[in-house]
Amino acid sequence: MRVSEKVAARLKELGAELRHGVSLADQTSLGIGGTTDEILLRRYEAIPEIMRLLADENIPHKFLGGGTNVLVDDGELSFVVLHLPSTMPGMRVEGNAAYVDAAADLGGTVTFCAKRDLGGMEGLIGVPGSIGGALRMNAGAYGTQIGPHVREVELYRAATGEIETLRGSEIRFDYRHTSFAPDDVMLRVKLELPSKPFKEILAGIKVCNEKRRGSQPLNQKSAGCIFKNPAGGSAGRMIDELGLKRHRVGDAMVSDRHANFFVNVGHATCADMLKLIDEVRERVRTAYGIELENEVIVWRN
Ligand code: EPU
Repeated sequence: MRVSEKVAARLKELGAELRHGVSLADQTSLGIGGTTDEILLRRYEAIPEIMRLLADENIPHKFLGGGTNVLVDDGELSFVVLHLPSTMPGMRVEGNAAYVDAAADLGGTVTFCAKRDLGGMEGLIGVPGSIGGALRMNAGAYGTQIGPHVREVELYRAATGEIETLRGSEIRFDYRHTSFAPDDVMLRVKLELPSKPFKEILAGIKVCNEKRRGSQPLNQKSAGCIFKNPAGGSAGRMIDELGLKRHRVGDAMVSDRHANFFVNVGHATCADMLKLIDEVRERVRTAYGIELENEVIVWRN
């Protein structure tokens, strides 16, 4: 989708940067996605005004974080993409509190806090993506989730059209799900983390890194796990038991390392990946009577 000259001029006045015809394949870890205009939100204070502008002009939009958990449609997209600039995001520690911009890298945040003797997030070290994305999805791994550490979130709330601060207790964090509205935009978070010597945290980080390297296809294009685990079960184990590792549609393939990771082994399209997802879901439904739910967020045109 291309925005008009008039909207482009107004965005400039509001301090946002407009990039024309950006490829989402270049901005997502799956390497899949069509093209559209992208708006870089350089000034947080201008976000409410920018959202009003988009609403007034009937411009559909989606907010892209780290791009590591999203499957984007092919071709010219029917929505523009909003993005927070990720160069030099703010990170600061005060006692046991860490104040972090949403655009910060999750792994970078874990290390930054570790160096200041704040732990508790070791399990999240290899989870790719931004702090904002981690908040929205309640990212988790190896028994750790980000939710319990959240004390405050500053966000643009679609419901009120304003920038607000929510207390951690006002937000519901469930398994890979939160009570944020789909069009809320995470801006900053205050985390509270337990004190721990750096060396101890580092040892925990190493264990998690090794486990991850041993079981996940880290050097291939993926969006992490495609399906949520069903209650009490493992989607990866079920898909593996059905012999579906390496099953492929075009260049979209079930990883031979971890069956809940679907990888782009060349030039997979969104259509390929969706077909693969549907085929695997169908096979699991038939064999186990379980309907797997997507963990990856799908942006259809
Ligand atoms: N397994 C298989 N074959 C496979 C994959 C897994 O038999 O191909 C078995 C494993 O041997 C193990 C069980 O299934 O006994 C569970 O596997 P694993 O420990 O890899 O955990 P998972 O449930 O598949 C979850 C998260 C991952 C997270 C890991 C580690 C979900 C959907 N996935 O995977 O998160 O990294 O635990 O904590 O909750 C993600 O969210 O994108 C993600 C990758």
